[in-house]
Amino acid sequence: MPVEFLGIAATNDGSETTPRSGASFDKEYTLRLARAHEDHGWDRVLFAYGSGSPDPAQAAAYVASRLDRLQILLAHRPNVSCPTFAAKTFATLDRISDGRLTVHFITGGNDHEQRREGDTLTKDERYARTREYIRIVKKIWTTREPFDHEGEYYRFHDFVSDVFPVQQPRPNVSFGGSSPAAYAAGGAEADIYCLWGEPLAKTAEQIEAVKAAAKAAGRTDVPRIQVAFRPIIAPTEELAWEKAHRTVDAIKARKARGESVTGRHNGRARPENTGSQRLIAIAEAGERHDRALWTPTAAVTGGAGNSNALVGTPETVAQALLDYYDLGVDIFSARGYDLLDDAIDFGRYVIPIVREEVAKRDAERAARGTRNLAAVNG
Ligand SMILES: Cc1cc2nc3c(=O)[nH]c(=O)nc-3n(C[C@H](O)[C@H](O)[C@H](O)COP(=O)(O)O)c2cc1C
Repeated sequence: MPVEFLGIAATNDGSETTPRSGASFDKEYTLRLARAHEDHGWDRVLFAYGSGSPDPAQAAAYVASRLDRLQILLAHRPNVSCPTFAAKTFATLDRISDGRLTVHFITGGNDHEQRREGDTLTKDERYARTREYIRIVKKIWTTREPFDHEGEYYRFHDFVSDVFPVQQPRPNVSFGGSSPAAYAAGGAEADIYCLWGEPLAKTAEQIEAVKAAAKAAGRTDVPRIQVAFRPIIAPTEELAWEKAHRTVDAIKARKARGESVTGRHNGRARPENTGSQRLIAIAEAGERHDRALWTPTAAVTGGAGNSNALVGTPETVAQALLDYYDLGVDIFSARGYDLLDDAIDFGRYVIPIVREEVAKRDAERAARGTRNLAAVNG
């Protein structure tokens, strides 16, 4: 199976190591960063969601109208919208982008952040609501007749949309989370299940949990798996490790100055979401895992989202990604700490190696399949 690469569609140049140099929505930078991804072999970029952040749907529409190939992953939190309205937003965006939209449904892993926009449900209730919401959005995308809905969280009558996605039967649904409630909801509804980068054995456990949830929901297929890392690459191993330590030192220095480095709990309070708790536990178990996974970047940010690094030369980092491909991962999410330059470097030096090796592996697998078939038939 071919691999895909997901980058970040940030709307400014800030990262954990560097405060942003301008406005939160820097129109020129937003387009420059997205274009760098399009020009350097990436497939798709994520427009993330935060309670105070610029509206990702409009940023995505802007980028889609300026670029021709880059696909869009739009993060969306159900608590901020009615599903009938959201389904039309998504369908319109799929039209603007000529069929390049995937929607990443965010349940929300932190009560305080959810309350900022008036959401008072518990996390498990939020997952149940997300599940109902996704089912409604899928139905609106694919139903030409008016229908009623009487659910636990939503009720409406006689609704039919007048705008439908370009992609048929519908755009893909992406989903993330590492708690049992997340596996249940995403296993049932997601086309793509997103995990944060963990050691291989722990990633394999999570993949099994997602597959089991999909089966329990009565599915005959399974979601594709995406895993996210923060690559730190340099021409030699030594230089890459120096860069890795410089990265963590820069984050620590910002924290020491009292700056917010993650826009969230800043690594102080214990995170409420299972995914971040897992990252902290993995960091406590050791700094280095497998071929190139390095956890101090997660430890220093309190396991804030995609935060485990892969450190080494492009060859080492590519081989590390291929280890995950061999587990069944076929979408890699990656972003550096210098968003623009790192997107260019990763696209130039890592993506081509991974694509070439995956093509070789797939060709060998196909040849083995043909030989086995010949043996059975012969
Ligand atoms: C790849 C990925 C991207 C995510 N993007 C966002 C985001 O943009 N905004 C947000 O608030 N949460 C985001 N999340 C958080 C999840 O949607 C979810 O709310 C959280 O991980 C739930 O925690 P759990 O591990 O306890 O199930 C993301 C999660 C993953 C795995």
